[in-house]
This record gives sequence, structure tokens and C-alpha cells, in this order.
Amino acid sequence: MSDHAFATRAIHAGQAPDPVTGAIIPPIYQSSTHVQDSVGGLRAGYEYNRAGNPTRSSLETQIAALEGGAGALSFASGLAAEDALLRGILKPGDHVLLGNDVYGGTYRLLTKVLAPWGIETTTVELSDADVLRAAIRPETKIVWLETPSNPLLKIVDIALITEIAHAAGAVVVVDNTFASPALQQPLALGADLVVHSTTKYLGGHSDVLGGAVVFADDRFFDQIKFQQFAVGAVSAPLDAWLTTRGIKTLALRMRQHSENAQAIAEWASARPEFAQVFFPGLPSHPGHEIAAKQMSGFGGMLSFGLAAGADAARAFVESTSLFQLAESLGGVESLIGYPPDMTHASVRGTELAVPENIVRLSVGIEDVSDLIADLEQGLDRIAG
Ligand SMILES: Cc1ncc(COP(=O)(O)O)c(C=O)c1O
Repeated sequence: MSDHAFATRAIHAGQAPDPVTGAIIPPIYQSSTHVQDSVGGLRAGYEYNRAGNPTRSSLETQIAALEGGAGALSFASGLAAEDALLRGILKPGDHVLLGNDVYGGTYRLLTKVLAPWGIETTTVELSDADVLRAAIRPETKIVWLETPSNPLLKIVDIALITEIAHAAGAVVVVDNTFASPALQQPLALGADLVVHSTTKYLGGHSDVLGGAVVFADDRFFDQIKFQQFAVGAVSAPLDAWLTTRGIKTLALRMRQHSENAQAIAEWASARPEFAQVFFPGLPSHPGHEIAAKQMSGFGGMLSFGLAAGADAARAFVESTSLFQLAESLGGVESLIGYPPDMTHASVRGTELAVPENIVRLSVGIEDVSDLIADLEQGLDRIAG
């Protein structure tokens, strides 16, 4: 599969027809256990669902092929994947350097769940390489970044950060949820591990929760697989199957998400109601050049700051109708959110707090003229 193009791998990797019946779509193996021919005589290596399930394996093969990884593991949620990764690699006394604009739940996991077990986390501005060089310490085990980041769409130079982190002996983890492997492949740029909330673009239809860890090589696989087996936050067979189905259209969807978001970012830039538009596809974005170098499209996420402040931002997210007010992102339908009270409520008052006038869009794949008309009527409503 590795010599095929991305869109082909998305449809065929791990998705061979059922060898017994010829069913074109691999079945959902909705089974908690597997018959053994003798004690320990496993068929195809499957024993018990927490250890392994054929539907989960087919998803893991598909995701590894998309990221160009040596392997992947799939979990019940993005945060379950992050937790298994962190506990699989870190031990008490280790230090993590975390980009300073990341999903609030990642910060919460590190500072509220893992800190009491002896893991120290420092947040850092990763778009400035000198800041990273100064912040890295002998006990820094992981440098964790998101690019584009949530919710301010900051861009980090993955190859540069990896070079600096590796020189200091640290491992680089990239949360590739916002870009998806259709637009950005961090392992090819030197990162060691990729994490995903597959709930988002990989699943693509807002109907399933899931997460994944993807491995550049086999260095950390056994440790993280052990966490998955010992703790059990695995993806259920139906969830894994829904995700494999979503992934098959990823290449097409990401093209349309990117095209629609670009049009909305350009429209928003010309509107006086928005003081800032955060979208890496705009030449005015400080990370535009790096994004153009390391991404093949700019994605479907964008944020803007309302010139009239926090109350206007709150009113605006309640004034649209096609853009539904909801948490999450990456589905075919457009969503609007107010990060300070929603996705980033857990970081209010911390060093990761986001501006109070921010609105975040997950731009779907509806007709873009309908989406812009919806935003325009929203602006009219809050003005009137
Ligand atoms: C960038 C990013 N990473 C990780 C997560 C966590 O994923 P999940 O909600 O599937 O646990 C999210 C969720 O919003 C996210 O936006």
C-alpha cells in the first residue's frame, strides 16, 4: 500500500474484502472474545477484545498507512490515546514541554491528572525556536505540539522543532487532529509520534468518538500497546468500523473544507466587525509561509476576534442557523463555538487562556455561499 497515493490508501489500506464471503466491506467483528483451538491456540492472534479485535486492527492499519507510520493504535477517545501515550513513555520526574495554544483537555490531562504522579509540564511559545531552546531541560522527555493549533490556528515549524528537540534527546509528539494526514504528515517531517482525536476529521461525520496514536518506528509501540491492553480504553468495534468508513472520503472532504474555509476567511477579513481573522491560508497570517511549506491545504478551522468584544462574540455564536452552536469540529456540517466558555473553559485563568472575544468555526462542506449568507445574517442580527 505504501507506494500508492494518499486517496487510494485511504480507501484500501486495511480494508480488504472479507476472505470468507467476499463482502466488499470488512465486517464489524462485534465479539468480545475469540475461540481458541487449544489452550493458547489463537486464530489469527485474536484472544479477547481488550487485547485486540479485527475491526480495530483494520482501522489501525488504515491510519498507519495514512500517516506513513510503522503502526497505529486506536482508542476510545483522543484523550484516551493521549493518556496511554503519556503514561507509556513518561515516569515520575520527567518533564513535558507543551505548546502554549493547544486543546484545553491536553493541558488538563497533563496538569490535573498526570502532575500529581510526578510529571511536570511547562507551556512554551513554539513558533519561536529560541524560546524552545531556552526552555528545554535535561529531564525534558516530550515536546508536544499542535499545528495548526486550537483555537488560534498558530503554526509551528515541525521540522525545525523536531531538530531542536532531538538534539536535546526529547521525543516529539504532534497532535495532527486539525490538519489530518490528508494535509500534513508530521512523521515525514521527523516527528516521533502523532496523536489524533479521530472524533474529528478522520471520522468526519460527528457520529463517533475515538483517538489514535501513530508510530514513526517500533521504539514506543510495546509500551503504549501495554497501556492500551492493561487499562482498556479501546475503540469499540462499531466505533472503529464507522471511523474506517469516514476515512475513505477524507481526501475529498479535506479539499472542500479547506476551500470553504479559505473563502470564509477572505470574506471575514473584509468585514469591520472582525478585528482579527486567524486562518493560516491568509498571506497576512504570521505562520502562512511555514504552513504553505508543510501542509498541502490550510484546513477547515478558523477563528476570529469580534471587534465589539466578548458580549458580541457570545451573541454572534447564538445568531447563526447553519453554523450550529456545538463543541467539537471536523464533521461535514459546520459548527460555531465560543472557546472561552466551551472547548477552552478548563484553561480560563491559566497561561493557556484564550482571548474573550474569540469565535471558532469548524467550516463544513455545505455550499459556501449558504455558509457566508448565514454568517452575514448573524452579523445583521447582533447589529440590530
Ligand atoms: C486538537 C484536539 N486534540 C485532542 C482532542 C481530544 O479528543 P477527544 O474529544 O476525542 O477525546 C480534541 C478534542 O476536541 C482536539 O480538538
